[in-house]
Amino acid sequence: MSAHVVDVPCASKDYQVHVGRGLVDEVGPIVGSLLGTPECCIVSDDTVDALYGDRVQSSLAGAGIEAPRITFPAGERNKRLATLETILERIASHEMDRKGVVVAVGGGVTGDMGGLAAALYLRGCRLVQVPTSLLAMVDSSVGGKTAVDLAAGKNLCGAFLQPEVVIADVETLSTLPASQLTDGCGEVIKHGVLADEVLFERLAASPINSAGHDLDELADVVARNVEIKRDVVAADEREQGVRQMLNLGHTIGHAIEAASGFVLGHGASVAVGLCCIARASAAEGWCAADVPGRIEACVAAYGLPTDTDIDHDTLMGYLAHDKKRSAAGYSVVIPRRIGEVELRRVSPEAMRSLVDAGCGTSR
Ligand SMILES: NC(=O)c1ccc[n+]([C@@H]2O[C@H](COP(=O)([O-])OP(=O)(O)OC[C@H]3O[C@@H](n4cnc5c(N)ncnc54)[C@H](O)[C@@H]3O)[C@@H](O)[C@H]2O)c1
Ligand SMILES: [Zn+2]
Repeated sequence: MSAHVVDVPCASKDYQVHVGRGLVDEVGPIVGSLLGTPECCIVSDDTVDALYGDRVQSSLAGAGIEAPRITFPAGERNKRLATLETILERIASHEMDRKGVVVAVGGGVTGDMGGLAAALYLRGCRLVQVPTSLLAMVDSSVGGKTAVDLAAGKNLCGAFLQPEVVIADVETLSTLPASQLTDGCGEVIKHGVLADEVLFERLAASPINSAGHDLDELADVVARNVEIKRDVVAADEREQGVRQMLNLGHTIGHAIEAASGFVLGHGASVAVGLCCIARASAAEGWCAADVPGRIEACVAAYGLPTDTDIDHDTLMGYLAHDKKRSAAGYSVVIPRRIGEVELRRVSPEAMRSLVDAGCGTSR
């Protein structure tokens, strides 16, 4: 049964995030008690459908909800308009009405595409998120951002739609490939550095990606991460101000991810980006001298990389295309200490100094 329920108050909608064990079998009762017996479609990639589709479908059936399953091939390369069109046509073929619910069961790709399908179908129906990857639980399922990729870049075509409820069953993480679990830890460590020194110390002392890690403790950590994301998102639903703080580690991280040809995972890239910006911040005197070492030790304990050997001209080339860059320069999130960050406006020249001071310096 559910161990944690986190309230997420947003300007457009208040909703709850349930985090616990065995919740895949509670999707029906939770959706039923909240929404009655709406028409539903379950959207999943083929990998997650094979693992959890039957259980989610029978749980909904037990609550009197007949929900057909719509699947698409797993993988980021399928997070495209063509796949979205297929999903929308399938939803339409089931004649779902405007009160209908898309139940997105899967990782961040499924949440993003199921979410965008819900935002678009009949100009907007309803969405339930059932995240099954660590990244989806602590990041993408909360906050209401949905998107598909364009040839011009990732997540360039999307919409905001807050879910009715998020149901995160940490037991599903036992089937997640270890590399995906570890990659998701990059965002988890980021949350600790961003807002919670106690969480950070706990993560450093007992890596949540270690074999046989206690699932109840994992549920605690996921719930705390959801609270941290909630606190930022609730204050700034449409990313006009404080939500930018979630970008900690991402400015340099995105450049490293792109420069690697997306071979290095997003979470691993964020982990490197965190270490780089911490080293650069210490060099500038913007944070305490021990901050980079503490972050590096934590990142290394997860088997995630702490530095990059990509040359700085290449990194600056990718930084010049940063979506969040403006004519005046970059907004960079600086760790002032573990658990507290600040946003700094940085000129392109100063950005180069940060890259020089932070990247390729620990090897
Ligand atoms: N909307 C947002 O706010 C937001 C935030 C961060 C990231 N994202 C997006 O999230 C995506 C990345 O999410 P992801 O890392 O979860 O990728 P993903 O959805 O592709 O999942 C990774 C892989 O793990 C598999 N998988 C998922 N859950 C599983 C389970 N329990 N057992 C076995 N296999 C499982 C999937 O089939 C897939 O092959 C990116 O597209 C990114 O842009 C969105
Ligand atoms: Zn991220």
